[in-house]
Amino acid sequence: MSETTTPHATERDDFQATSDPALLESADRGESQLLSYRQLYQLWERQQWRTQDLDFSQDRVDWHERIPPDEREARMYGLSSFFVGEQRVAEELGPMMRAAPTEDMRIFLCTQIADEARHVAFFDRFYSEVGVLEADDLSGRLAETSEHLNPEFGEMFDEALKRRVDRLAARPEDLETLVEAVTIYHMVIEGMLALTGQHFIIDYNQSVGTLPAFVEGFLNVARDEHRHVAFGARFLRDMARADTRYADAIQRSMAEVLPLAEGVLRPKWADDLPEDEEIFGATLQETREFAAKALGRRLKVIGLAPAA
Ligand SMILES: [Fe+2]
Ligand SMILES: [Fe+2]
Repeated sequence: MSETTTPHATERDDFQATSDPALLESADRGESQLLSYRQLYQLWERQQWRTQDLDFSQDRVDWHERIPPDEREARMYGLSSFFVGEQRVAEELGPMMRAAPTEDMRIFLCTQIADEARHVAFFDRFYSEVGVLEADDLSGRLAETSEHLNPEFGEMFDEALKRRVDRLAARPEDLETLVEAVTIYHMVIEGMLALTGQHFIIDYNQSVGTLPAFVEGFLNVARDEHRHVAFGARFLRDMARADTRYADAIQRSMAEVLPLAEGVLRPKWADDLPEDEEIFGATLQETREFAAKALGRRLKVIGLAPAA
């Protein structure tokens, strides 16, 4: 109705309830009110939603009649990264859940597997109801949309993360590898890449008034991701306090994948764009700063210095 800027969704009580350090200024001072694994599970019970409730009819009109073809093509990078990314993480989480050392951790990670499945279903519904692609089933849509991804995406998901999860599947007692996998999955992929992309994609759609059902569902996805990242921060803090070996594992895996994260944040078609050129309302520089600030706050709460 009005054009005034509404406060960002992350200020809402339900987002704040996740206790993700990135949403709390107090985290800059290293103060944390991280929830316990049991509290995170209980929050999951209270934060359910259904992809079936979303009505994509206006989104369909927007996509085909209001968004110009070149902008549709440019938007495909962000959308594909999420659709394929959700499917990849949903597949990798099983061995991580099994390797988690306590019952409360495993129960929370079971809820996260259900969430990631719902996120895949959300994107699948968006793509099929809006008519974004030619393919007519989930695996066809995933294959078709994968063409928009860049090489760093493959290195992050199919190499850095998958290699560790494969190791965990064979040796679930290997806690150091679990710490590395959670660092890559919860801190980098969800915390830096997904939540940064979501922030800017939601803002852009709201500012130009497009894809209302997509925005509604994507906000639910974002709230789930903050809850997942809050679990990751709690887990890594507990592990880092238990043994410096685990703190080293966090730093080591981060040093390996941060350069890849940088590449994933840059769309394939934006390779030659200058740093200060705006893409959908934000420059690459702003996107990177947003991701770095979120990571810095979480690392402070975990008890580690932000990566240089
Ligand atoms: Fe997800
Ligand atoms: Fe997630």
